[in-house]
Amino acid sequence: MNQQEYIESAVASFRTLLEEQLSRVAAMEEAQGLSGKQKECIRIGIVEGDGIGPIIVSAAEEILQVLLKEELDEGKVSLEKIGGLTIENRLATGQTLPKDTLEAIKKCDVFLKGPTTTPKGGTVESANVALRRALDLYANVRPVAIPEKGIDWTFFRENTEGEYVLGSRGIEIPGKLAMDFKVTTKPGTERIARAAFEFAKKNGKKNVAIVTKANIMKKTDGNFSAICHEIAAEYPDITVEDWYIDIMTANLVNEKIAGHFEVFLLPNLYGDILTDEAAQLQGGVGTAGSANTGDRYAMFEAVHGSAPRMIEEGLGDYASPESILRATVMMLSHVGLQEKADRLAAALDALRARGDVVVDGTPENATCRDFTAALIGALA
Ligand code: IPM
Ligand code: MG
Repeated sequence: MNQQEYIESAVASFRTLLEEQLSRVAAMEEAQGLSGKQKECIRIGIVEGDGIGPIIVSAAEEILQVLLKEELDEGKVSLEKIGGLTIENRLATGQTLPKDTLEAIKKCDVFLKGPTTTPKGGTVESANVALRRALDLYANVRPVAIPEKGIDWTFFRENTEGEYVLGSRGIEIPGKLAMDFKVTTKPGTERIARAAFEFAKKNGKKNVAIVTKANIMKKTDGNFSAICHEIAAEYPDITVEDWYIDIMTANLVNEKIAGHFEVFLLPNLYGDILTDEAAQLQGGVGTAGSANTGDRYAMFEAVHGSAPRMIEEGLGDYASPESILRATVMMLSHVGLQEKADRLAAALDALRARGDVVVDGTPENATCRDFTAALIGALA
């Protein structure tokens, strides 16, 4: 193609992108006001993923069997094993989200998901990103607590737009330029802001920090911040602060100010980056859980990846299930089983404080199974 043809083709695809995004906005506007209703039986999907996924997810499943014994016996909760979300199957079928797997997930109210590998190149995309999009899981909620430093943070990361929604739909004129798109929509921002402020209100938090780079990304981040402030006006008892992402990454490691923050409200990519930093401060990305919630579905997962190298080196049994178990705590709380969530969180905290069963990925220390057995002991 010559330059003129590249421009024509880019303009045509930009039109399509705009039209698609506007229909997404319309769908969100229509969906507003939908709310979950109390279920007779809560269906919990168990999706193993690949790499270390099956190992850590089976630990979480074992814990759920113990913790929810009564509810399972009485038919108030069911655990549904869902297969197919492995890198092998996804590559073999050429589907980012195999159809049967997605159908099975949609029959559940919530699901626990092990990490999944994203192949380099090809057309199979990140299963995580695809699930968030397919199930409209717009709120990525990641708590981080470091009690000895007075830190109790909850991150509300917008999970369906920003740099991610058109991540693989950029424009390229080979050898000359490449352009990606970032999208902020009004209903997309309103719903994540409302989730953050509702959380703050229900949990007695007094401070919400909006984190953007609105001095540079004037349209997308500028609107994100402005829309968050409109929602904030409905919560006059909560203080709202605007911060830029660069100084916020510094603030998290600044002990003089870190403890001041409570709730963070951020667009997708900044949320991705800042939550890894926060998890590392807590003890590593392997220690933090992550909830991906929408109005209909919710997915709970570890913050870390599938660690294929651990499997190749025969170290899979030494994978820590802590992150997926922290996600399990969030899942129990989300479906209204708060007392069970508190019990599991207390047992995890007790085990961490005891420090005698450490799983760090090396054969010198405990295995995933040792940890699970010790946790069952701590639950009793
Ligand atoms: C996360 C991960 C994902 C993301 C990857 C696996 C696509 O880093 O959940 O934070 O970028 O959102
Ligand atoms: Mg990440």
